[in-house]
Amino acid sequence: MALVNEHFLKLPGSYLFSDIAQKVKAFQVTHPNKRLIRLGIGDVTQPLPAASIEAMHKAVDELSKAETFHGYGPEQGYDFLIEAIIKHDYAARGITLSPSEVFVSDGAKSDTGNIGEILRHDNSIGVTDPVYPVYVDSNVMCGRSGDLQADGKWSNVTYLPCTAENNFIPAIPDKRIDILYLCYPNNPTGTTLTKSELKKWVDYALANDTIIFFDAAYEAYIREDDVPHSIYEIKGAKRCAIEFRSFSKTAGFTGVRCGYTVVPKEVTAATLTGERVPLNKLWNRRQCTKFNGTSYITQRGAEAIYTPEGQAQVKATIDYYMENARIMREGLTESGLKVYGGVNAPYIWLKTPDNLSSWKFFDQLLYEANIVSTPGVGFGPSGEGYLRLTAFGKREDCIEAMKRIRAWL
Ligand code: MLT
Repeated sequence: MALVNEHFLKLPGSYLFSDIAQKVKAFQVTHPNKRLIRLGIGDVTQPLPAASIEAMHKAVDELSKAETFHGYGPEQGYDFLIEAIIKHDYAARGITLSPSEVFVSDGAKSDTGNIGEILRHDNSIGVTDPVYPVYVDSNVMCGRSGDLQADGKWSNVTYLPCTAENNFIPAIPDKRIDILYLCYPNNPTGTTLTKSELKKWVDYALANDTIIFFDAAYEAYIREDDVPHSIYEIKGAKRCAIEFRSFSKTAGFTGVRCGYTVVPKEVTAATLTGERVPLNKLWNRRQCTKFNGTSYITQRGAEAIYTPEGQAQVKATIDYYMENARIMREGLTESGLKVYGGVNAPYIWLKTPDNLSSWKFFDQLLYEANIVSTPGVGFGPSGEGYLRLTAFGKREDCIEAMKRIRAWL
C-alpha cells in the first residue's frame, strides 16, 4: 500500500485563487445577466509586447527547418537570454553576476514554490504577513510549516505582521530564523521597502546566517528612486539572498510562462557536520533533474523585451497599469476608503469600511457592485480587515469599477 504525503492533508481544501474562482462561478450561475469586473487575481489584460510576438513567430519558423531546429535546450536557459538579463537587469545597476548564477524557468511561482527542496525540512521559516500563499503552502507540503492553528497561523512559521499600524514595514525578528521570504514590491499590499529598510534585513541575514528568498516579481513597477529593484543593490546580499524575477507582470507572460532565479555562488547553507555547501550547485542539480528548460520560443520572446523597441513597449504597458492604479487609488479615496500601495506596484490594498471582515466585504463587492476582489485574510491573518484590488484590468473596467463602488458606498 502506498502512503500519501500527509502534509498535503493539512492544507486548506484549495488554493486561495481557486476558492475565489468557485465563489465567482456560483455568483455567475445565479446572476447570469450581471457583468462582472474582475480585479481579483493579478492576471494581466494587455497583449504581449509586439517585439516579443515578432521574436516568437521567428522562433516558430526556425523550428520548422532541420537546419535551425532546437530540441532540448540547456536546463538553465539559453545564453542569449541569460546574457540579456545580466546586462539589462543587473549590470545596468552596477551588479555583477556570472551566467551560471542565473536560472531561467517557467516563472517565479514554480521557483519560489520549489526552492525549499534544497534545504532541510526542519529549517525555521519567517514570512511577512499578509503574504503570497505559495511560500507558506509549499512549506506545508514538505512538513516545514508545522500545523495550522485556530488563529490561522502555522505552528512553525514566524509571522512578521505588516499592517497600517507599522506602515507595512515588518519589524526585524527578535530571534534567529533560517529562511526568510521577502517580496518587494509587495504582493499583496503593494507597499515597498526603501534601500535603508532592506539593508536592515540583509544585515540581519548576515548576522544570523539566514537565507533570504527575495521575490522581485513586481520590480518593473517601481517608480520611486530609493526603492531597490534588486536585493543585490544592498552590500553583502550576494552572500545571503536568492532572488526571483518574472516576465509575467513585466511583459505580460502570465500565460506564456517565463521567469528566472538568481542563485549567487557565495550563498551557502550548512550540513549537519558544519560543511558549507553552495546553494547554486544544489539548485543546478535540482533543475537538471526535474526541469527540461523553458521553451526556445518563449525564451526568444523574453529576450526581445530587452531590445530598444521591446523596452519601449514594456514601459508603455506598465505605464498603462500604473495609470489604472492612480485612477483606482483616487477613486477609492474619494469614496471614503483608506488605500495603500499602488504607487510602486500594481496592487491596491484597502481597509474594509466599518471593520467588516475581508470575506464579508469581498461578498458585498461581488454581490452588490459585481466586482471580483481578493480578501486580505486569504493572504494571512494580518490581512484580515483588508482587501486587494489589482490594477491589471482594462482601463474602462477600472473606471467603471470606481463608479460602481462610489455609487454603492
Ligand atoms: C496574484 O494574484 O497574487 C498573482 O497573480 C498570483 C501569481 O502571480 O501567481
